[in-house]
Amino acid sequence: MVQLTLPKNSQISDGVQWPKPPGANRLTEYRIYRWNPDDGRNPRIDTYYVDRDDCGPMVLDGLIYIKNTIDPTLTFRRSCREGICGSCAMNIDGTNTLACLKSMDDVRGGCVKIYPLPHMPVVKDLIPDLTQFYAQHASIEPWLHTETPAPEKEWPQSRNDREKLDGLYECILCACCSTSCPSYWWNGDRYLGPAALLGAYRWLIDSRDEATGERLDNLEDPFRLYRCHTIMNCAKACPKGLNPAKAIAEIKKMMVTRQF
Ligand code: SF4
Ligand code: SF4
Ligand code: FES
Repeated sequence: MVQLTLPKNSQISDGVQWPKPPGANRLTEYRIYRWNPDDGRNPRIDTYYVDRDDCGPMVLDGLIYIKNTIDPTLTFRRSCREGICGSCAMNIDGTNTLACLKSMDDVRGGCVKIYPLPHMPVVKDLIPDLTQFYAQHASIEPWLHTETPAPEKEWPQSRNDREKLDGLYECILCACCSTSCPSYWWNGDRYLGPAALLGAYRWLIDSRDEATGERLDNLEDPFRLYRCHTIMNCAKACPKGLNPAKAIAEIKKMMVTRQF
């Protein structure tokens, strides 16, 4: 193991350079943010080498290779490995994305640099604390609100009304958008952020929902909705191709017109 020396004024401590896997012909370098709340040390960047002939092509495959064969203490979230659960969101090569959908070959410069999602408290290594993010999602009450008695079978919806939910229901709550939003970085305790607002709009335009007025009242606040300044980082970051900024603009329109 080689200790890397970082500039003296860096808040990141010297990292560890792990040896290359013996006999490997095709290597990809990973530089990974490490922080352990229990060791009292500053964060550091560790360097690892992944044997490309012994693991899959995605950044998540490389992380699993490192954990299984080099350093079992490396900590990150993952579950589905196919872009469905949202667990493996992290900052890769300067962009928030899902490690399981990002190919190692698509990383610029050949070296995979990974940090946790930005501007969130870190639990350990690549794991951000999403407590507030989930609480904000819960605050929009993401379920059907109705007053009329429930039908015997199901709440009917026309094909056209169902199509209005496309581009909204696919959100996997990965938090890539909210943690790329400058307004959320600075006011994350009061501004709901793009993910929660996209969710709010999904229920606002659901033809079966009967609480549109209450939902709009819940958002009418200088911070909860109106801190979006249309910077558009959210749409750029979303690994599912969704556009939270557009949904937020639609909510603002609904506020003005109150047409529902
Ligand atoms: S468009 Fe709004 S929500 Fe999206 S990044 Fe910009 S300020 Fe944040
Ligand atoms: S809108 Fe996209 S980036 Fe934001 S939480 Fe949903 S899936 Fe993730
Ligand atoms: S592991 Fe589920 S989205 Fe990446």
